[in-house]
Amino acid sequence: MYYDASRRTFDCEPTLTDSEVLRFCREGYLHFEGIVPDEINQRTCDYLNGKIPLDPCYMPDGMTEDELARIRDTHEPSSILLEDWFIENVLLNPVLTGALRSLLGRHVGLPVLVSNHRIECPKESQPWHHDADHLFGPEVNFVEVFYFPQDTPDEMGPTEVTPGSHVRTTRRTQEERGVLCSGPAGTIGLHSQCILHRRGESTASGLRHMLKYSYWRTVPPARDWVVEPEFDFRHADYGGHGTARYVAHMFYWLCGKGDDFRIIGGQAWPWKSVNQIGPSYGFGHTEGYLPDWRGNSDDDYAR
Ligand SMILES: [Fe+2]
Repeated sequence: MYYDASRRTFDCEPTLTDSEVLRFCREGYLHFEGIVPDEINQRTCDYLNGKIPLDPCYMPDGMTEDELARIRDTHEPSSILLEDWFIENVLLNPVLTGALRSLLGRHVGLPVLVSNHRIECPKESQPWHHDADHLFGPEVNFVEVFYFPQDTPDEMGPTEVTPGSHVRTTRRTQEERGVLCSGPAGTIGLHSQCILHRRGESTASGLRHMLKYSYWRTVPPARDWVVEPEFDFRHADYGGHGTARYVAHMFYWLCGKGDDFRIIGGQAWPWKSVNQIGPSYGFGHTEGYLPDWRGNSDDDYAR
């Protein structure tokens, strides 16, 4: 692990393989249960509940101790990003950073803003939503992370996501279920900011903190994660009708090959079925089309 405190970036060995990076492109999230030590989870809760003093590792330009104390008590307690113990054990957690390094390249930028989604359980679920300012596209210039510093089983209303909904506008009724990102204290999830999600319904009692923040790309994309010698771009699993073209485009972009990507439509690559008797046509075409990321989107970003 190399941590550059002056630039607030880190570098480390990537841990995700081709198949795992493609899975992120297909599903839009990853989930790591209980990866932060209990002592740090407790300290995080104590910090957020105002039980331990501030101890910033440096004072950001234009800020004061009083300002940091004010920030700590808001719904955006970003002062926690300046605590050495939080940087070392949460922001630079080895399991998390290996995945981030795989998706965001070298010299990953650390978060500058934290949201605390603090709720008193029990509570009904939130409506399904794409977050404000989401932007559909093949680029993975940042990923959002959420951290549960206390045990967050299904009954405590963990984040609920709809796998694969990060590539286009998706609507679901309240009754439809997704995947609950539950886990013991120290569970961290990582997802595309575009994914359809909500706070799940909670039925237990108690205070639930959830810290949410983004890590940032600072270098162009390249396939410098754990390359699988047998990985085959032609036969890889990009998912089903309607989304495979977006997933494949995102994977090619991450490989640094976004400009080479073309599709010809229909049942051609990157779509395939287990029932076909030969490989899909259309792989490797240099002329063709790109998925229309903006056409079906209501994210308010222009082409
Ligand atoms: Fe949200």
